[in-house]
Amino acid sequence: MKTIDLSIKIGFCQIEELSEEERKLVEVAIQATKNSYSPYSHFAVGAALLLENGDVVMGANQENAAYPSGLCAERSAIFAAQSTQPEQPITTLAIAARNGGGLMREPIVPCGSCRQVVLEIEDRYKRPVRVLLYGTDGVYVVNTIKDLLPLQFVGESMK
Ligand code: THU
Repeated sequence: MKTIDLSIKIGFCQIEELSEEERKLVEVAIQATKNSYSPYSHFAVGAALLLENGDVVMGANQENAAYPSGLCAERSAIFAAQSTQPEQPITTLAIAARNGGGLMREPIVPCGSCRQVVLEIEDRYKRPVRVLLYGTDGVYVVNTIKDLLPLQFVGESMK
């Protein structure tokens, strides 16, 4: 059997090292954590999307007593953006999270379902989505969701 190398490289920096536009986007994601409705997990996630026209769309996780009925912050933001400005590609996604102790030290990473939804966005608009994962220790900078989902299932995979 041969081995296939799927290794990836992502960036890690301090928030101050980001461009002003990206720093502001991360700050919106941090703000968005305050809009989380998370009485069950007590884990508040905020997302901020930058659209190609410069608009910023916020999302926060929304939980439900019937747990699977809730939705992650990333998908709340993406579906809101897609429902209001479907002609606008998403260029960047920033995520932040806090628990009872405050903002998370380690960068928050998106769950598998959210990665899959971001992949669909890349496939739909034929352009990469840059992903900024915030933690108080630093920010992971990912140039395409494909780096977080190295083997991809898209519409084309069914043909
Ligand atoms: N959550 C998100 O909003 N985004 C993620 O990427 C990971 C998990 C939410 C879902 C749920 O409300 C809570 O965090 C705990 O899983």
